[in-house]
Amino acid sequence: MKRIALIAVAALIFVVVATVGRFYLLGDPESGSTSVGTVSIGGPFTLTDQTGKVVTDTDFAGKYMLIYFGYTYCPDVCPTSLSIVSDALDQLSPAELDKVVPIFISIDPERDTPAALADFVPHFHNKLVGLSGTPEQTKAVARAYKAYFAKVSGEEKGDAYTMDHSSITYLMGPDGKYVAHFSHGTKADVMAKRLAEIL
Ligand code: NI
Repeated sequence: MKRIALIAVAALIFVVVATVGRFYLLGDPESGSTSVGTVSIGGPFTLTDQTGKVVTDTDFAGKYMLIYFGYTYCPDVCPTSLSIVSDALDQLSPAELDKVVPIFISIDPERDTPAALADFVPHFHNKLVGLSGTPEQTKAVARAYKAYFAKVSGEEKGDAYTMDHSSITYLMGPDGKYVAHFSHGTKADVMAKRLAEIL
């Protein structure tokens, strides 16, 4: 349950940062999403996709980005969350689905090479884009999205470490600006309904 406690802490940090950052959250437990007033979530990024191509946020201009931060070695939280995103996308109409690009951004630059992401993303959705970067690029994009991550200390044995990270799915608009986010545990049908309202 330690991981769940950390997710709760990360979620709390997100809300505190959001509040201190002068934006107000209007929670809607029914929709599982949250509307935000004055926003400072998101921003420019430069990363590398799973084919090895350097991409920036502007490559996705004109599409909604559905962004989740995690890492391919994640034993539980990331696979669960990405399965929910995938299930939600599969409930959209083809026209709705065409408007959105699901993106998995790695917070584990040591292990998540483009090749590792190329193996990983097709397990979840054929539209899922896997992005990774240098430690500096990773820190920058996580900071922009107020995403928390940290290597778990004390259990590192070569490659066998885990990462703690916040578990929030962000919906960014065709202009790259924040639209909504889905907290950890949002159900696929709830996410799909909200997406269909927006897209
Ligand atoms: Ni994870």
